[in-house]
Amino acid sequence: MLIDFSGKTAVVTGGASGIGAAIGRALKDSGASVHILDLRGDPPVDVTDSGAVEAAFARTPVPDVVIVNAGTAVPAELTATTDEIWLRTISVNLTGAFNAVRAAARRMTPARRGAIVLTASTNSYDGEPLLTAYNASKAGLLGIVHTAAGELGPYGIRVNAVCPGLIRTPLTEAHFSNPALLKEYFRHIPLGRGGEPEEVATAALFLASDLASYITGATLFVDGGQMATKFGAWSESNAQFSGDRWTLVR
Ligand code: NAI
Repeated sequence: MLIDFSGKTAVVTGGASGIGAAIGRALKDSGASVHILDLRGDPPVDVTDSGAVEAAFARTPVPDVVIVNAGTAVPAELTATTDEIWLRTISVNLTGAFNAVRAAARRMTPARRGAIVLTASTNSYDGEPLLTAYNASKAGLLGIVHTAAGELGPYGIRVNAVCPGLIRTPLTEAHFSNPALLKEYFRHIPLGRGGEPEEVATAALFLASDLASYITGATLFVDGGQMATKFGAWSESNAQFSGDRWTLVR
């Protein structure tokens, strides 16, 4: 058990895979009753469909914790970003998050309690190439976090975000199966490696818990220090890259 969530109800969107699945497992291991809202859930729930999201929330008790995490990414150069890629990405990552936050807030406000944690990204802040739609959607999440934190604070509801860097999930399989790419990518990460879904889950659980009772409207980077420096942390002069990570050799 990480933190005691006994007797609490949690909803996790995008909880069938990757980061969402790790958060769901951690919440369950910590005693929460966990409800997964996912295209691959049972029943399937599409977060882009506001009616389906409302109906899914109506099937659960009033949640104490809502993790707004469903997301997708389709790499494309700006000029090759089709209407379909743009609309689908904004629809899942931003409208889908709005649908979940609104449904959560509608249930939590009468109860005068709750914690909402969104999975934003380091890309909420910077412009990783080939991800115009994704980066715009993740930047948009900050607008939801800030505004919802302001409106819901008086009701005792906290709204925060985790901002993961590169995490090993099915979404990032192409990165993690390319050692040459990882070597250059991780050169800029002080901890010298990518993250695991469980490492994002611990941060999300902290923000969702009473340990974060005075934290709202905040974003927490879970990125091995990537956003702390733009100068690069690793070089062959005293380090080597193997096994998906940089390590000092002297
Ligand atoms: P994933 O692909 O392993 O999991 C995404 C989940 O969202 C899947 O279970 C999928 O079925 C679900 N989903 C997608 N569209 C949906 C829809 N319309 N309705 C309901 N569910 C839907 O990906 P991962 O990596 O676990 O990503 C989770 C979140 O973390 C996403 O919001 C992603 O943008 C974010 N993130 C991921 C990073 C990474 O390096 N993996 C880094 C920063 C943020």
